[in-house]
Amino acid sequence: MHKVKNKDVFKASWTYDKAPESTDHIQIKKQYELFIDGKFTKPIKGKYFDTINPTDNKKIASVAEASDKDVDKAVKAARKAFKSWSALTGKERGKYIFRIARLIQERAREFAVIESLDGGKPIRESRDIDIPLAANHFFYYAGWADKLTYAFPNRNPKPLGVVGQIIPWNFPLLMASWKIAPALATGNTIVLKPAETTPLTALKLAEIIHESGIPKGVVNIIAGAGETGAAIVNHPDIDKIAFTGSTGVGKYILNATAGTHKKLTLELGGKGANIIFDDAAIDQAVEGIVNAIFFNQGHVCCAGSRLFVQESVADLVIKKLKDRMKTLIVGDPLDKNTDIGAINSKKQLQTIEKYIKIGVNEGSEIYQPKCKLPKHGNWCAPTLFLNVSQSHRIVQEEIFGPVLTVQTFRTISEVIEKANNTPYGLSAGVWTDKGSKIFHLTQKLDAGIVWANTFNKFDPTSPFGGYKESGFGREGGLHGLKPYVKFE
Ligand code: NAI
Ligand code: MG
Repeated sequence: MHKVKNKDVFKASWTYDKAPESTDHIQIKKQYELFIDGKFTKPIKGKYFDTINPTDNKKIASVAEASDKDVDKAVKAARKAFKSWSALTGKERGKYIFRIARLIQERAREFAVIESLDGGKPIRESRDIDIPLAANHFFYYAGWADKLTYAFPNRNPKPLGVVGQIIPWNFPLLMASWKIAPALATGNTIVLKPAETTPLTALKLAEIIHESGIPKGVVNIIAGAGETGAAIVNHPDIDKIAFTGSTGVGKYILNATAGTHKKLTLELGGKGANIIFDDAAIDQAVEGIVNAIFFNQGHVCCAGSRLFVQESVADLVIKKLKDRMKTLIVGDPLDKNTDIGAINSKKQLQTIEKYIKIGVNEGSEIYQPKCKLPKHGNWCAPTLFLNVSQSHRIVQEEIFGPVLTVQTFRTISEVIEKANNTPYGLSAGVWTDKGSKIFHLTQKLDAGIVWANTFNKFDPTSPFGGYKESGFGREGGLHGLKPYVKFE
C-alpha cells in the first residue's frame, strides 16, 4: 500500500500573468454566405442566424442558413462537378488537396484564434492540436489520392458520387478535415454542414478551398441547424452520409437512410473507460486522467469519462488527481495559460449542470476545486464524482463536459466487465507497466480505440471509430478511405 501524505503534491502556488493571444490579425466578416458551386451565395429564403462567442454569449457574425432549396442547389452543383472531378487522375486531385493543407498551415494562427472565439476551446489546444491536425489530415489523404490501387489491390475502387457530411461543434475545423480530405482523395464531391454554434472555421475553410482553385461544385459548405442537416440526409441524389454527433441524431439518420441506396457512417457518442492499474506510473497516469476528461472541456466523444482505479492505489491516485485539479486554470480561451475554456453553448452548459445535479441526487460524492469562474458566459468547474456505481446515470450516460466518475476495481476481469458495461464502445485507456496486460485488455475491451499509457492522441494515419451505440465506420488511416469507395 502506498502511503498518502497529507500535503498537496502539486504546489498550486504558481501565479500566472495574463497571456492573451492577439486578435489583431484575424479577419471575421460581419456576414457569411453559403459556399455553393464555387461561389459565396445568399440563401434563397434570405435567413441568417447568429454565431456567438460562448465566453460572453455575444454575437460574432451573421451566418446564412441553408434551407432545403439551398441544399438542393448544393447537391446539384456537386452532382454536376462529380463527372469531371472523378475523371481526374489521382495525382491531379492530390495536388488540390496538398494545396488546401498548405493554405491551412499558412493561416493556422488565424484559424486557431477563430476556432477558440467561436467554440470556446483553449487557444493552446486549437493552436497545437486542432489546426495542425486538420492540415495533417489533408496532407495525409493528398498522399493517398494517386495510390488507391495500392490501398485496395485488385479491387478497382470507384468513388461513390455526392456525399453529404454533417459535423459537430466540438472540433469544428478538424471534423471538417476528417470528412472532406478522404472524400476528395477518393474522387467524390461534397456537401458539408458545420454545426450551428461553430460555423466560422468551416466557412473560412471554404475561402481556402476557393483559393485552392479546386473546380467549382466539388466542395460545397452550407451552414444551418438540424433542419438543414435533415434536408441533406433526405436529399434523394446523395450517395453517402457521413455524420458525427449525438447518438440521438445518429439513430434518426440510420432510420432515414434505411432502405435507400445511401451508404452511411456514424461517429456518435462515447463513455470511455480510463483504467489505472497499480503498476502504472502514477504521476503520468494522473496527467493522463486530466487530459482524458478535461481536454476541450470534456466535449470529446472519446473522452475518458469513466475512471477505474485499482483499489490498492485508489487513495493515492484520487489525492493526486484532486491536487492536480486545483491547478487547472478555467477561463478565457484566448489566454495561453488556460486549461479549460468556455462550455460551447448555453444549451450544453444546461445539459452538464443537469447531470451534475443528477449525480448529487443519486447520492455520489462531488468534488470541485475552488476556482473563480468568469461572471458572464458559459463555464463549468472541473468535477469529480466519487462513490458511484455502475447503475448511476452519470456513469451510464454521455455528459460531454468536464465531469469524471471514479470507480475502483480489484481484478482484471472485474474491470473488463465494468468497462464494457455501457451502451457505447468508442474509446478506452489502459495504464500499466506490463505490455502483456495492455495486449490482454485491448482484445477484451469493446472499444474502437484503446490508448496505452496515454489518452486522446490523434493521428491522421490511425483509424478512429466505434462499436455499439458509438456508431460504425472508420475515419483516418487507410480504413478511412473505404467508406468513400465502391468496388466494381
Ligand atoms: P447534434 O447531434 O444535434 O449535432 C451534431 C450535428 O448534427 C450538428 O451539425 C447539427 O446541426 C446536426 N443535426 C441535428 N439534428 C439533425 C437532424 N435531424 N438531421 C441531420 N443533422 C442534424 O448534437 P447536440 O444536440 O449539439 O449535442 C447533444 C449531445 O450530443 C451532446 O451533449 C453530446 O453528448 C453529443 N454529441 C456528441 C458528439 C460527438 O462527437 N460524438 C458531438 C456533438 C454532440
Ligand atoms: Mg459560436
